[in-house]
Amino acid sequence: MASLRTFLLHAFLWLGLATTAFSLSPKFYDRVCPQALPAIRRIVKAAVHREPRMGASLLRLHFHDCFVNGCDGSLLLDSTSAFETEKNARGNLNSVRGFEVVDQIKAEVDRVCGRPTVSCADILAVAARDSVVALGGPTWKVRLGRRDSTTASRALADSVLPSASMDLPALIENFKKQGLNQRDLVALSGGHTLGVSRCLIFRNRIYNATNIDPAFAKERRATCPRTGGNANLAPFDPTPAKFDTAYFKNLVKQRGLLTSDQALLNGGSTDKLVKTYSSNPNAFWHDFAKSMIKMGNIKPSTGKQGHIRVNCRKAN
Ligand code: HEM
Ligand SMILES: *[C@@H]1O[C@H](CO)[C@@H](O)[C@H](O)[C@H]1NC(C)=O
Repeated sequence: MASLRTFLLHAFLWLGLATTAFSLSPKFYDRVCPQALPAIRRIVKAAVHREPRMGASLLRLHFHDCFVNGCDGSLLLDSTSAFETEKNARGNLNSVRGFEVVDQIKAEVDRVCGRPTVSCADILAVAARDSVVALGGPTWKVRLGRRDSTTASRALADSVLPSASMDLPALIENFKKQGLNQRDLVALSGGHTLGVSRCLIFRNRIYNATNIDPAFAKERRATCPRTGGNANLAPFDPTPAKFDTAYFKNLVKQRGLLTSDQALLNGGSTDKLVKTYSSNPNAFWHDFAKSMIKMGNIKPSTGKQGHIRVNCRKAN
C-alpha cells in the first residue's frame, strides 16, 4: 500500500514536471530575464521601420525553422565539416534573409540578460510575432522555452519545405506531416500578405497558367521576362508591407502569384475558407494567431535537450 502511494506520488510529481519544465510557456523568461522580450521587440521595430520587407523575411525564417525537425534554430546554423547548412536548401538558397537582424537581436538580448539566456529558436518565434504586429497584424502570446539544436540538415530541409509549384493535395499532405490541418494551411499561407517573390519562382505561372486573371499575368510579365530577370521581385499582393486581407482578396480574383497560392482557391476544399478570410479580417487574424502558435509548437526541444547558443550561426 505504501509503495503504491509512493509510486502514485512520484507519478504525479513527474507529470507535474513534464507539464511545467518540458513544455513551452509564454512566461518562460519572465523571471530569468524580463528585459528579453522588450529588447527583441525594439530591434524588430527598428529593423522593420528601416526596411518594411524585413518583417516578411523574419516571419518566413520562423516558418522555415519550424518545418525542419521542429522549431530549434537549425536554419540559422552555418555549414560545418559535419553538416551542410539549411540555408543552401532549394527553398532557402538566394531567398531566406534577415540573419543579420537575428544576430543583432541575439547580441542585444544576451547583453540585457547578462548572459546567453534566450534561445535562437525562441528569438525567431518572438521576432515573427513582433514583425506581424509591426506591420498591422494580430498579436498572440508566444510560447517559449525552445532549446537550440547542435546540428542541421540541408537534405531534410529539401524534403520537407513546401514548393511554389505544389497543388492543393500536395500542400495539404505537406502540412499534415507537420501536424497542421487545412485551416492551418490556409491561415498560415496568409503570411503571403507580406513580402515578395522572385520572377524565377512565378514565371511558369504567369506565362502558362489558365487559372490566372489575364490582366494580372500581363502586369507581372512586364517585370518578369520569359528569359532573364530571375531575381526580379514582385509582391504577393498589392500591399506587401501591410498585414491585411489583400492576399485572400487577390486569390478570389485569380491574382495569386504562386501556383501554391492560387491552389487554395481553385475549386477545391479550401475555397470557402479563402473567401471567408477575404472578407473577414477578424476571422483571418484569429486563425493566423492560433495557427502560428500551433506551428511554433512543432517538435520543440525543451528541458535538457539541445542548448542555448551563444552565436545563432554555430553550436557552442
Ligand atoms: C503553403 C506553402 C508555402 C509555399 C509553397 C511558400 C513558398 C514561398 C516562396 C516560393 C516564396 C518566395 C521565395 C523567393 O522568391 O525567393 C515565399 C516567400 C514568403 N513566404 Fe512563403 N510559402 C508557403 C507558406 C508560407 C508560410 C506558412 C509563411 C508564414 C507564416 C510564409 C511566409 C512567407 C513570407 C513572409 C515570404 C516573403 C519573404 C520576403 O519577402 O523576404 N510562407 N514563400
Ligand atoms: C510553359 O510550359 C512549358 C511546358 O511545360 C514549358 O516548357 C515552358 O518552359 C513554360 N514556360 C515558361 C515561361 O515557364
